[in-house]
Amino acid sequence: MLIVVLPDDAAVGRQAADMVAGVIARKPDAVLGLATGASPLPLYNELARRHEGEGLDFARVRTVNLDDYLGLPPGHPASCRCFMDRVLFGRINLQPENILIPDGGAEGDLMARCAAYEQAIAAWGGIDLQVLGIGRNGHLGFNEPGSGLDSRTRIVRLSPTTRTANRATFSGEPVPEAAITIGLGTIRSARRLLLLATGANKAEAIAAALEGPITASLPASLLQLHEDAVVLLDPTAAAGLTRLEDYAGEVDLLRRLTPQRLG
Ligand code: GLP
Repeated sequence: MLIVVLPDDAAVGRQAADMVAGVIARKPDAVLGLATGASPLPLYNELARRHEGEGLDFARVRTVNLDDYLGLPPGHPASCRCFMDRVLFGRINLQPENILIPDGGAEGDLMARCAAYEQAIAAWGGIDLQVLGIGRNGHLGFNEPGSGLDSRTRIVRLSPTTRTANRATFSGEPVPEAAITIGLGTIRSARRLLLLATGANKAEAIAAALEGPITASLPASLLQLHEDAVVLLDPTAAAGLTRLEDYAGEVDLLRRLTPQRLG
């Protein structure tokens, strides 16, 4: 893992955008794995800004989203699909056929839908760069504590912690009980992972994920198993880490010797 602490969430967004832009420059039809939530918003704002101001081109880029709630009516404002349309898809030149996002409809053969999602990712050659946030309980996507480290796209029950944490986006309506999410095995298969975390309410989960044991009880701890995982933090999210000095030194050296790792 490469752990980088930056001054604030805007700096996290800029550094993450450098990495996304670097991947697109090397591979114009790159497959980007995308997450919802507040954590990637500075990244999405920066990508939209670079598209508009600097011509960053998404014409051939393909995107795969992590998850969506199950059972919301199409077009529901709290759905991950609507969120992505609002914060990113509607602001850049992605082609609609290059967007994969789980269908959260509750009807039909849900197991077949999950298998088809995995097949669609494989048909695109897998995910080049997977953007991730982290839940306060250490979840990735909607892979709640207890998710198998090799799990694939499936239907999951949302934990009470997650339903409480995400209540604000539902303005008084009940938060769905279930979701469709790509698995931890799917995430581990991405060629590079990019975890973004800012704010004091992530400090405990970040410390446990990066310095604690690798365990299904804390899904984000799987980053420790990945050969190319980058973690961008602000100082408050990094506050629980005890070995920061080691990580900072590593970043300085790698910035000089292999600058492409961060851009
Ligand atoms: C959500 C999403 C995750 C996200 C996490 C943290 O429930 N399913 O993909 O990373 O919660 O969200 P936030 O970035 O808003 O803290």
